[in-house]
Amino acid sequence: MLFQGPPTERPAPERLFAQTAGRDRTMLTTDEILKQDDHLIQSFADLNALKQQGGRTVISRAEGAYVYSNDGEKLIDGIGGLWCVNIGHGRREMIDAISEQLATLDFYSTFYNFTHPKAAALAQKIAELAPGHLNAVHFANSGSVANDSAIRILQHMNIRLGRPEKKQVLSRIGAYHGATYLAMAMTTPAYADGWHAAHDIVHHLPSVHHWRDGADASEEEFLDHLISDMRARIQEIGPEHICAFIAEPIQGAGGVITAPKGYHKRAWEVCQEFDIKYVADEVVTAFGRLGHFFASEDVFGMVPDIITTAKGLTSGYQPLAATIVSDEIHDIVSGEGGVFLHGMTYSGHPAAASAALKNIEIMETEGIPENVRVTGAYFEQKLLALRDIEMVGEVRGSHFMMGIEFVKDRETKEGHPPEAQIALEIARACQKRGLIVRPLGNVAILSPTLIMDIAMIDQVADIMRDSILEVQAGL
Ligand SMILES: Cc1ncc(COP(=O)(O)O)c(C=O)c1O
Repeated sequence: MLFQGPPTERPAPERLFAQTAGRDRTMLTTDEILKQDDHLIQSFADLNALKQQGGRTVISRAEGAYVYSNDGEKLIDGIGGLWCVNIGHGRREMIDAISEQLATLDFYSTFYNFTHPKAAALAQKIAELAPGHLNAVHFANSGSVANDSAIRILQHMNIRLGRPEKKQVLSRIGAYHGATYLAMAMTTPAYADGWHAAHDIVHHLPSVHHWRDGADASEEEFLDHLISDMRARIQEIGPEHICAFIAEPIQGAGGVITAPKGYHKRAWEVCQEFDIKYVADEVVTAFGRLGHFFASEDVFGMVPDIITTAKGLTSGYQPLAATIVSDEIHDIVSGEGGVFLHGMTYSGHPAAASAALKNIEIMETEGIPENVRVTGAYFEQKLLALRDIEMVGEVRGSHFMMGIEFVKDRETKEGHPPEAQIALEIARACQKRGLIVRPLGNVAILSPTLIMDIAMIDQVADIMRDSILEVQAGL
């Protein structure tokens, strides 16, 4: 755009929100914002439907457990931004920590021989919180890249160990590990349908979803089957070709799928047996969502070789992700033998590292993970109670990571056809009542801020019930 002369007077920041008839709104109307938004490509959206039918919600402001639409509607943020705003929105200490950091050191990288105080302090803090031997941290800006980094680090390790052919990855049907070229290949194949991705190095083990994919056996039998299948696949591919097994403790974007009890420990034992490194993708499950800083050891009783995390690490106030590796892996990649040719300009950005440190401090001083063990367990119980509704097939998940799957027929578990967009209908009914939930096929996902109290949890459960009943009545 051409420079048009001196800038015209701009409104003072406090005037950006004008009070109009008791409702907050930005200086731009929603229609004006949507006109600008026509230039934005939304992620994971039906772009044509957005263009033809509209339906975009402009979120202009946020505070605590709520967000506000540009038209002033107050909505409970039932998806915590995107499974990430764990401490809640608008915390003044976070904003101060980020701006103070920017005023001191806006940017320096962690490339070559450079580092800076906040990246160093955060690496040490994460090492302190992470289980067992996980003591070295590489930073990125998204969970996808943290997962790519995990595999790259393992490939680098294996090259150094003189086994360059050990490069392939075991993942699982139902997984979501991100949208970069490699992370997309590690994600369940439906996400890369027809696209080229790094498929040649990724193998998907079957779904671990007992209710939908293994209910003709008991949970224990299903687990035995999954583990013997894993062993057979490894032998078929050849363990000498496999560097990593990657798994979310609870599969999130795949529909909030919990594996049979004891699965992760047994899968880890198989990895040990074949010298395959276990990468736990804790992009969602870490930083309090399941009631602990990390879920691998505290919830699932195993210490992986690598944990990747993002989202709740800064509660979404800044983009930051971490790949946390074991002493063994770190010793090998930092041993003699050349340069570690990997990193992103903003790995460990000072403002993001500062946000993470303050976020962790808030979580520790306010005992947020401990609270979640109580409020999250209550949330789980309240949602489980929705199982008495005819169209609810399964309610699953743990604490503040829950999914509700809707069925057409409870007996056969037959789902609604995709064109019925059943979860979207329910999400719309919820939003009308003041709650944001995330629709995903036949599943409604709830991953709220971790600060919801009992009264608000009751309100969310009531809204869910009323909305599901409304949609059910219209079927
Ligand atoms: C388990 C898991 N891993 C990785 C990612 C990718 O993270 P990002 O979107 O920050 O790249 C996500 C995102 O939702 C996730 O849920």
